[in-house]
Amino acid sequence: MSDSLYGPATGRRVTTKDLAAAKERGEKWPMITAYDALTARLFDDAGIPVMLVGDSAAMVVYGYDSTIPVTVDELLPLVAAVVRGSRRAMVVADLPFGSYQESPQQALATATRFMKETGAHAVKLEGGERVLPHVEFLTSAGIPVMAHLGLTPQSVHQLGGYKVQGRGEAGQKLILDAKHMEQAGAFATVLEVVPADLADAVTRAVSIPTIGIGAGSHTDAQVLVWQDMAGLTPGKPPKFVKQYADLRSVLTDAVQTWAGEVVSGTYPGPEHQYS
Ligand code: KIV
Repeated sequence: MSDSLYGPATGRRVTTKDLAAAKERGEKWPMITAYDALTARLFDDAGIPVMLVGDSAAMVVYGYDSTIPVTVDELLPLVAAVVRGSRRAMVVADLPFGSYQESPQQALATATRFMKETGAHAVKLEGGERVLPHVEFLTSAGIPVMAHLGLTPQSVHQLGGYKVQGRGEAGQKLILDAKHMEQAGAFATVLEVVPADLADAVTRAVSIPTIGIGAGSHTDAQVLVWQDMAGLTPGKPPKFVKQYADLRSVLTDAVQTWAGEVVSGTYPGPEHQYS
């Protein structure tokens, strides 16, 4: 591994040990979502050390209006494609709603499918203390687990919407949840849409890396859904999203130009034809 986590291919995959070492060094790193081989290859070549095949695929790939409906069978081929498309990044598979909550045994059965059928290197699940036995069971079976605290979209109906979590007294519970996840053996935890000060406190309270999304600048790492970051998602993005490109305009221009040339007969030109 090169000295820096964010960097060029080194001939081997990034591991949980590399992430732990980065926290020791105080080095920040990016995690991005990916759902197909082509973008996985691009992000891998760009040096992104960790890719998450999020259950956000429910919305950005399958067109559902929340993460709740997406199934294990819908996510498995996406994770396999991202593993095939990448060479260096650690690929984390999100366990979808209903595939692990029932029991540690159910969590192990689902995680085992992702590890065996896709080649994923780790799994992610949502929840704090209530999934402690599940995380312990998975890690004792040798499966690296990424936790997810704060705004946990699979519980959106219980939370009453996509709102900031952990304000006031709930902050202490979130810090405790993060400690529980660390004790259970999780190698990192996502902190989604929580106050920046709280994310800072969690990051200092645990030795595992924290990965923020809408959690301010003090976490060890940051994650965004790539379509949000690249300006492909329609509509007004949440406050925490910074758009680094306007892919929606770029792609709209490209497809309209091509369609216009098809209609006018200027495409294909002589240079695109076989004799
Ligand atoms: O599903 C997902 O993409 C996620 C990230 C936003 C953390 O869980």
